[in-house]
Amino acid sequence: MNARSSLAERDFPPNSASERGLTLVGASRDQGKITLRVQALSKRYGATEAVVGVSFDVRQGEVFGLLGLNGAGKTTLISMLATERRPSDGDALLLGHSIRKEQRAVRQMIGVAPQESALYPKLTAAENLRFFGRIYGLRRMELEDRVEQLLDFVGLQGRGNDPVATYSGGMKRRLNLAVALVHRPKLILLDEPTAGVDPQSREQILNLVRCLRDEGNAILYTTHYMEEAEGLCDRLCFLNQGRVVAVGTFEALLRKLAFSEVIELRGLSAPADLAPIRALAGVCCVERGDGLVRLFVRRAADLLAPLQRIMGRDKFARLQITRISLEDLFLHLTGR
Ligand SMILES: Nc1ncnc2c1ncn2[C@@H]1O[C@H](COP(=O)(O)OP(=O)(O)OP(=O)(O)O)[C@@H](O)[C@H]1O
Ligand SMILES: [Mg+2]
Repeated sequence: MNARSSLAERDFPPNSASERGLTLVGASRDQGKITLRVQALSKRYGATEAVVGVSFDVRQGEVFGLLGLNGAGKTTLISMLATERRPSDGDALLLGHSIRKEQRAVRQMIGVAPQESALYPKLTAAENLRFFGRIYGLRRMELEDRVEQLLDFVGLQGRGNDPVATYSGGMKRRLNLAVALVHRPKLILLDEPTAGVDPQSREQILNLVRCLRDEGNAILYTTHYMEEAEGLCDRLCFLNQGRVVAVGTFEALLRKLAFSEVIELRGLSAPADLAPIRALAGVCCVERGDGLVRLFVRRAADLLAPLQRIMGRDKFARLQITRISLEDLFLHLTGR
């Protein structure tokens, strides 16, 4: 298929890459195989412990989400994996190659989209891709095909010859992602790839990441947007002040908690006495917010009748049941 297909920018985002017959990174279909093994990795900056004994695996065909608030250590971890910063302790193996001892081999197999876009603003998108492709040793003909293919993939085929300085923030983010893919890496590291973009551009980028995952790639994805991670990541790692708090699928992490649903009560006559509600069996935790009370409960259905009895006289009270969100889970597991 000709990479410069009929997809115009308005048709973006494309269907999955595999549907379109593109092999973007060249991953095999060996799903589930461990691509990256992080082993007790640590990084100190003077007295600051930025990353402390972090261990996890990233497998082929998954988006592994590294979640943490500002300063949690996400970028430090990515930089060590990309061999840009030297670990203070521990190691990580990329398909068996050590990030400490085999930096050349690791660099060739890793594709990084850094948190701050690393692009040359005076060059066009195509020139940026050619520049990075040459660094990785791609030959001229192969590189030209690759540039077209990647511009098409990220929906920039109509703007590929314009200087990057004329791009919107979302377009720069998509090009930043394309640059990470130019040499068909085995592991894709994406550091907050949607930071600062509007909702439409965010959705475009998330769709690109899903395409890459559907192709069977291993993707390490950092973000502090919990909602985004909930819809995208296959497994999650919560990082808090440099330490891993929990690793697993959303469902597995939920099982660590004594509650799985939230009952939200609005319109309670103030100040409502919450003591009888707190005392109910199955109510694990009660939070009071702005005109809102949130009950973290094991099974909401079991509590409807007792709540009705307690709140019976409060005719303005309204009740809504939601499943625990990833944000709730994160806040509880990190004790925030
Ligand atoms: N070059 C540096 N020198 C000293 N301290 C640093 C350096 N880089 C990061 N830190 C510190 O290490 C900790 C982790 O920072 P890091 O940038 O890895 O966090 P992050 O999770 O990527 O945050 P953000 O979400 O804001 O990007 C912070 O306390 C930060 O101040
Ligand atoms: Mg960061």
